[in-house]
Amino acid sequence: PPTAETKVSAAPTSDTIVIGHVGSLTGNEATFGQSSDNGIKLAVEEINKKNGIKGKKVVLKTYDSQGKPEEAAVAATRLVTQDKVLTFLGEVASSRSIAMAPIADSNKIPMISNASTNPKVTKDGDKTRPYVFRVCYIDPFQGTVMAKFAVENKKFKKVAILRDVGNDYSVGLANFFTETFKKLGGEITDDVSFKAGDQDFKAQLTKVKGKNPDALYVPGYYTDVALLARQARELGLKQPLMGGDGWDSPKLFEIAKGSLDGSYFSNHYSPEDKSPVVQDFITKYKAAYGGATPDALAVLGYDAASVALAAIEKAKELTGPAIRDEIEKTKDFKGVSGNITLDADHNPVKSSVVIGIEKNAQKYAATINP
Ligand code: PHE
Repeated sequence: PPTAETKVSAAPTSDTIVIGHVGSLTGNEATFGQSSDNGIKLAVEEINKKNGIKGKKVVLKTYDSQGKPEEAAVAATRLVTQDKVLTFLGEVASSRSIAMAPIADSNKIPMISNASTNPKVTKDGDKTRPYVFRVCYIDPFQGTVMAKFAVENKKFKKVAILRDVGNDYSVGLANFFTETFKKLGGEITDDVSFKAGDQDFKAQLTKVKGKNPDALYVPGYYTDVALLARQARELGLKQPLMGGDGWDSPKLFEIAKGSLDGSYFSNHYSPEDKSPVVQDFITKYKAAYGGATPDALAVLGYDAASVALAAIEKAKELTGPAIRDEIEKTKDFKGVSGNITLDADHNPVKSSVVIGIEKNAQKYAATINP
């Protein structure tokens, strides 16, 4: 695992280009930040092997958000004011990216979130944030994906929702799912709350069990979801769970111990995708990281870094505004997670995969296009 801070020289010199990364390297979502950093490092190493950018070596400075929005904001400020980064990447969690976004705008230094899917990340009210971008799809789409899959593929009619009320991503995704699921004729039997870090979900699960839904929709992060799934089985709930990208972690299976078998979640990529761009990346990643299969965060970290580096390369000068202008023009960029063309709100339009869980491992189930 990476250390809390990637060791680099502190101040930029004229022969280096410094970019930043803020990720949760510790805490309940530690794999989010670690995988992202692994992916980002691969992209940086690749460009340095090709002589860097404009003859300068690219240096990556990474800070640990510890899974906290306040820490993410402090880290972003430090990257901009002390480390003089030209662009920074992160966060994974939408609540933390939302805390970082104003810092990008006010300092005129571009930020690219690799994996935050809540619409508010790139929007300040109804105004697009000029310096904030992302390389992943957004939750109005992700919520629709699972609602459609539930109704059309699984024929589910009644679903209970369990949402993490302190998490912008979870709240948004629960709402977007509900909207489409109802539109397609589905019924939400219950909509109950939990908080990240909760150890006991039995009261909520008992309530939900009473109405015997066809499935439970739990748009949370892996640590909570896996624990919740185990307690659901202990209480005799046999229904499948459904969720979003926040489930994606090797730790999901370690904690769930089989209790998520028969469940489904939407995600940005499947390692079973046979396209050369995906398989080449998997091969490279495995060689670099002891045979580990990259998760979606590693892929999106690599893509976010690649988009940033390509823009820095094209920028007519090495300043935040000039790089921002190039990021904004990103069109048909061949990412590992799909082609990236940024729209007026700085979001790409991409397809989603649905992953099923069988024998405590993930199994590709479907691809859903926008
Ligand atoms: N989309 C999640 C969020 O916005 C983060 C996430 C992305 C987590 C991909 C895992 C995989 O909070």
